[in-house]
Amino acid sequence: MFAITGITGKVGGEVARNLLASKQPVRAVMRDLSKGEAWAQLGCGLVCADINDAAALTSAFKGAESVFVLVPPNFDPSPGFHEARATAATLKSAIEAARPGRVVYLSTIGAQATQSNLLTQHTIIEQVLGELSMPITFLRPGWFMENFSWDVGSATNDGVISSFLQPIDKPVPMVATGDIGRVAAELLQETWKGRRVVELEGPHRVTPNEIATTFASLLGRPVRIEPVPRETWESLFKSQGMKNPTPRIKMLDGFNEGWIEFESAEAGSRKGRVALETVLETLIESR
Ligand SMILES: NC(=O)c1ccc[n+]([C@@H]2O[C@H](COP(=O)([O-])OP(=O)(O)OC[C@H]3O[C@@H](n4cnc5c(N)ncnc54)[C@H](OP(=O)(O)O)[C@@H]3O)[C@@H](O)[C@H]2O)c1
Repeated sequence: MFAITGITGKVGGEVARNLLASKQPVRAVMRDLSKGEAWAQLGCGLVCADINDAAALTSAFKGAESVFVLVPPNFDPSPGFHEARATAATLKSAIEAARPGRVVYLSTIGAQATQSNLLTQHTIIEQVLGELSMPITFLRPGWFMENFSWDVGSATNDGVISSFLQPIDKPVPMVATGDIGRVAAELLQETWKGRRVVELEGPHRVTPNEIATTFASLLGRPVRIEPVPRETWESLFKSQGMKNPTPRIKMLDGFNEGWIEFESAEAGSRKGRVALETVLETLIESR
């Protein structure tokens, strides 16, 4: 049996659908059981566990051949990343107590970076979970293509999208959550020893310019991309309610300056199959 956290979200849902398609038994781990009906109908067992509840996670992970661990995104962490440190300790104690056969942890591109930034949350959790005695895979995907769901409205209505990724002709490692879920499901079913890292991006790197031209061809209207000036980011993020925008700004700097990159570089990453056009088309249709 495979225990899947984050199943009501994008990646966790894809992981579970891929396992179910391979006729594998899935335990759906969620913080709110009222979201579980569709999963129960697909044959999953349902378990309620918050990512910060060690006792509930222990029950959720007990008896599992493999567990998929996804920590919900936190775009506005406290200085010192206390939330990630607490989550790391909770996860470690729950996994140690439940003793599943193997673990796949959804990390990120750049988890090995030494400069502090938003992704440091995954660096912290990788370090703590890396101390576990059972086999663990850190799956490090690139920038999710689904992040452009935030731009569908402005592309459609105004023919313009804003970009924090700059310069707009610089290729960025991106990947579809469909590819992440497919690869994660494969990894969960493998056997391996110790700690391993799997880095994953899409079929080719994508420039912000290509985002605009792909939106334009799918929408049948001109779409231009406008870089958001770096000096406006802090006040913009604060105006949107962020208390501590520095980690997010540093993450964007890391992508733009190239120090957020795969540890094994482009040559060493696995390549997904899902094209940008497919993802943007789905995002437009589901709007
Ligand atoms: N976006 C990117 O470009 C990118 C790149 C690399 C790595 N990542 C990593 O990918 C992960 C996000 O994956 P995603 O996009 O699939 O997430 P998502 O769609 O936002 O889903 C988040 C999932 O976490 C669950 N969740 C939220 N709070 C919880 C809690 N307190 N306890 C238990 N479960 C909780 C949600 O459940 P509910 O339905 O109850 O809310 C949902 O199932 C993050 O760790 C992020 O750092 C993202």
